[in-house]
Amino acid sequence: MKFINVATFLAAAATARCTPPKNLPTTTLYGVEVVDTQLVRDARAIIKDFDDFLYKHSMRTWLFGAAAIAANETLKKTIDLELHAVSTILHDLGWDMTPNSPWVSPDHRFEIDGAIGAVGFVKGHKDAKHWDEYRLEKLHDGIALHASPGLNYGKNQDVQTILSSIGFDNPGGRPEPIPEEDYNNIVKGLPNDDIIAGTNKTWIWFAATKPEATYNTVIEPWGEAFVPGYNATGHRVFDLLNGSS
Ligand SMILES: *[C@@H]1O[C@H](CO)[C@@H](O)[C@H](O)[C@H]1NC(C)=O
Ligand SMILES: *[C@@H]1O[C@H](CO)[C@@H](O)[C@H](O)[C@H]1NC(C)=O
Ligand SMILES: *[C@@H]1O[C@H](CO)[C@@H](O)[C@H](O)[C@H]1NC(C)=O
Repeated sequence: MKFINVATFLAAAATARCTPPKNLPTTTLYGVEVVDTQLVRDARAIIKDFDDFLYKHSMRTWLFGAAAIAANETLKKTIDLELHAVSTILHDLGWDMTPNSPWVSPDHRFEIDGAIGAVGFVKGHKDAKHWDEYRLEKLHDGIALHASPGLNYGKNQDVQTILSSIGFDNPGGRPEPIPEEDYNNIVKGLPNDDIIAGTNKTWIWFAATKPEATYNTVIEPWGEAFVPGYNATGHRVFDLLNGSS
């Protein structure tokens, strides 16, 4: 009987949702105060040698998000800042065009490569004990949903904030939640003039190297426009439902 009680207790403890860790060490980057745990440092080390446009894009999403959170009393109190940091920094692991990249699969959409890569990185880290299933799931969702506009609605606040932070680096100037001084400092330190060309190059590469992972996704038009021989017709849900596949 005692054994059963212990087992029940352990099961309950294992499924308990942890509250965001408080009082984490911080550092200041381009004028923005950010979390500076070993896990976040190690996440930064992963993207450090990526293509420069991709490194800067990943860093900007983190810093834009951190600046917007710091400027919002509600988010400041509730957001899991380490989760936010790891999610934004690693959200585009699947964009690593380095030959034989450990992050890029031959058959998954890039967001899934990013989500699986980031969760695997945390699970393999010596500080993984601070991450329960719920926190890992938020990490997965925050990355997996980031290229499907509209899927943020109804998610928990952590995932919504990760998704909006990633979206802050879309073309179009300063998003309103980011204070102007922070935005200017971040873009001065990590210029965004190469993001459109870099994205274009990467998305064409996806369509050319793993077309099956691009049909019915945001990448599809890049394949149709720029990759000789790419033909989504027959692979789209539209074709399936209209009997032409
Ligand atoms: C703070 O962020 C929340 C969640 O995004 C938003 O609903 C709220 O309007 C923001 N508050 C301010 C003062 O901008
Ligand atoms: C994207 O790449 C294609 C193929 O190289 C090129 O024709 C097109 O102009 C590029 N678009 C942008 C916005 O860079
Ligand atoms: C694309 O594939 C569909 C289905 O197999 C075919 O009917 C169509 O002719 C192809 N288009 C081109 C441009 O090859």
